[in-house]
Amino acid sequence: MALKSHLIPEPNLLNVADSAGILNLEQVFSRAAPVELEIGSGKGAFLLQMATAFPEKNFIGIEWANAYAAYAADRFRRHSHNHVRIVNGEALWWMRVHLADTTLDALHVYFPDPWPKSRHHKRRLIQKSFLQQSLRILKPAAPLHIVTDHAEYFEHMRHTFAEFGQFNIEPFISPLRSVGADFLVGTNFEKKYVAENRPFYSLIARKPG
Ligand SMILES: C[S@@+](CC[C@H](N)C(=O)[O-])C[C@H]1O[C@@H](n2cnc3c(N)ncnc32)[C@H](O)[C@@H]1O
Repeated sequence: MALKSHLIPEPNLLNVADSAGILNLEQVFSRAAPVELEIGSGKGAFLLQMATAFPEKNFIGIEWANAYAAYAADRFRRHSHNHVRIVNGEALWWMRVHLADTTLDALHVYFPDPWPKSRHHKRRLIQKSFLQQSLRILKPAAPLHIVTDHAEYFEHMRHTFAEFGQFNIEPFISPLRSVGADFLVGTNFEKKYVAENRPFYSLIARKPG
């Protein structure tokens, strides 16, 4: 997807210098509120549903594809959703450098790239280093929600969580269920895969309380 020149990502694109270190999220959002983070937020379809349904919460989406990040930031600007920020960057690095311990009320990972070839498995998001960072930045009892269409990646995830051993694994419940959504998470990949009749695999990994 080429970067479209008519997009206006500011003010929803969050640009922070590497040297800024750990962020004060109350300052970022100009208010104290629960913060939820989506990794690989694409064009922002899930966060748009969430931000509309839960205006009392703050949301961050991290997306490393420049064009998608710009599209999503522009989208939230058009909706005047001042409680959403999009980061154009690599998630694990950004979490490590910029997020304080016990900061997040929820993490969301929907349809992460499966990297199916064995020699590419090391590129997968869900691995021990990611679980360590997630455990560090989530508040006690906060959930990490995951959905994938990829059976083998899901088995890899279950194995990785079992080996890590510090999350409680629960059945998936859509974070949008309370507002009557008739989809799991409403992302572009979910819509595409529903049309292809693909099965979905999902879980919640909850930090102990
Ligand atoms: C398969 S797409 C899914 C997008 C969206 N979640 C959906 O369900 O429609 C995966 C997205 O995650 C982004 N991504 C993959 N690894 C990432 C990482 N380490 N940090 C930030 N974004 C990442 C990709 O650029 C891509 O937009």
